[in-house]
Amino acid sequence: MQKLIQNLILRCLLRRAGWRFFIVVAGVGRLAAADSKVDFERDIQPILANRCYECHGEKKQKSEFRLDNKTDAMRGGESGKPAILPGNSAASPLIQRITNPDMDEVMPKKGERLTTEQIALFKAWIDQGAVWPESDAKASARNNHWSFKPPIKPPVPVVKNPSSVRNPIDNFILARLEKERLSPSPEADRITLLRRLSLDLIGLPPTVAEVDAFMADNSPDAYEKQIERLLKSPHYGERWGRHWLDAARYADSDGFEKDKPRFIWNYRDWVVNALNRDLPYDQFIIEQLAGDQLPNPAQDQLVATGFLRNAMLNEEAGWIPSSSAWTRCSIGWIASAKASSASPFSARSVTITSSTRSRRKSITGYSLF
Ligand code: HEC
Repeated sequence: MQKLIQNLILRCLLRRAGWRFFIVVAGVGRLAAADSKVDFERDIQPILANRCYECHGEKKQKSEFRLDNKTDAMRGGESGKPAILPGNSAASPLIQRITNPDMDEVMPKKGERLTTEQIALFKAWIDQGAVWPESDAKASARNNHWSFKPPIKPPVPVVKNPSSVRNPIDNFILARLEKERLSPSPEADRITLLRRLSLDLIGLPPTVAEVDAFMADNSPDAYEKQIERLLKSPHYGERWGRHWLDAARYADSDGFEKDKPRFIWNYRDWVVNALNRDLPYDQFIIEQLAGDQLPNPAQDQLVATGFLRNAMLNEEAGWIPSSSAWTRCSIGWIASAKASSASPFSARSVTITSSTRSRRKSITGYSLF
């Protein structure tokens, strides 16, 4: 009875909202596999990675079979037969393997069987032509990350109603609004505008006097003048330096064990000031990684290398001093892995060794690649 009611509810929902809603209710897979396009990177690769790479991946190739790249997966293993026959799931050995009724034969050879939904996804994927976007999907996922793509100026969209366009950015917003048949909201009042601008640029609301001054300024570039004022504010560096300090793992204490206070605020102030004096980005990086190696380094450039000292510190009896050097090094390593959205263990471009020089190199590598 309960099943019948569930079925009825689902059917009603299905009729009203279409299959998308059905997927949300019924769990991804069942219908997606049969009806909609299976996407290798979204639907198949995660199953391969979780259930197959252990024996058919980079480290182990049982039956000389790899499933972590297209060429090897298509070629098959020891059997000498291709494991995947695009367009023909029924005849594909891979499907026969994952559906084998014999528990000793079925793939994965360890752990639970694949679920009915996962098997359906594999079948649908093969029947839809087994589209595998790149020969090395992992590398392609890495290389496709936005941070590796050179910025390209897109064409400025043409809009039907150019009267509310003041600069090309408005074209993008307006084009999308027009597409969605929405009209722009009216401009905010001046107090709200100044409050937003101020919070955006310096993280602090304007003072009453600043609001009054803005209200009294009738010049056409009154708003631009406020931008200039806020960019010149010393709070600008405080507001934006915070993002960098987070990435650099800045803290005012050791962050571990006794968690004693540490005095590294000179480095914090260096970052804040660097932003306020508009230090070019390459110089900003060079000074933090190797300020002490510059010819006749200024005190300030030595302070910048505080970047390399932001690690957690353990003062427990028996601790090994070099271990915190390693942690420092890992800052670059982990950040690089984050940037490439890959696991830290596959961040190929970064190597870690314990010597100071190569530590620098590894971190430099991170910031350059
Ligand atoms: C715990 C290890 C293990 C895991 C996990 C595993 N396999 Fe296997 N696989 C094997 C072994 C061992 C063989 C060779 C023995 C055999 O043929 O039964 C094999 C053979 C195969 C073959 C035959 C290759 C050939 O042409 O010789 C296919 C296809 C296959 N596995 C698919 C998969 C798929 C798909 C998954 C994940 C859903 C998977 N395997 C997960 C251990 C594993």
